[in-house]
Amino acid sequence: MSDLKINVINHPLIQHKLTLMRKETTGTKDFRELLEEISMLMAYEITRDFPLKEIEIKTPVTTCKSKVLTGKKVGVVPILRAGLGMLNGVVNMIPAARVGHVGMYRDPETLKPVEYYCKLPSDVSERTLIVVDPMLATGGSSAAALSLLKAKGAKSIILMCLVVAPEGVRVVNEEHPDVPIYTASVDECLNEHGYIVPGLGDAGDRIFGTL
Ligand code: PRP
Ligand code: URA
Repeated sequence: MSDLKINVINHPLIQHKLTLMRKETTGTKDFRELLEEISMLMAYEITRDFPLKEIEIKTPVTTCKSKVLTGKKVGVVPILRAGLGMLNGVVNMIPAARVGHVGMYRDPETLKPVEYYCKLPSDVSERTLIVVDPMLATGGSSAAALSLLKAKGAKSIILMCLVVAPEGVRVVNEEHPDVPIYTASVDECLNEHGYIVPGLGDAGDRIFGTL
């Protein structure tokens, strides 16, 4: 495990909510709400080092210097479909962000990613992209999405996942050493079907009620 380059966000609220999401008795409505809440909290944590500059403003009382975000603008890119479950949480925290979409599904037989959609902001090379996907399992989908974004010009990318398997982190670390990965949990391993153990099952199906 110590070979993994990964940032685990251990905030108690995130960990508590993740436990609720993992339970098989948690239904679609609660699952979706919890994922949105966790995404908001994770966005708060991953933007902790974003640069600030001081500007002069006028309050009702006086003028003063006060801080605003500076540096690159942000783009949020959910990997369809399950990544959509993390989108609103991030955009709630960064309302000026543009949103791109990458459609990628995992072939159930080969576990290889299949790309089916890509629509990005035109100035993707000038933005910091926060790519969101709750599950990083074999790493195939995320690694392929990151390659696609780079091919379209992206230069600054952060990957934000809810739960990851060590196997998938290794793949992304190897293929995209420049991309920091954030997660709420590094789980134990993958099972023979490529599902994360203990995980939370199929995230897309649980978000959209297609079980
Ligand atoms: C899930 C998940 C990831 C991918 C992870 O998507 O949202 O994109 O699997 O697996 P990997 O790391 O082994 O590639 P899925 O293929 O189930 O599609 P969906 O989001 O449309 O349900
Ligand atoms: N995709 C999911 O939704 N869950 C897993 O455990 C692995 C891949």
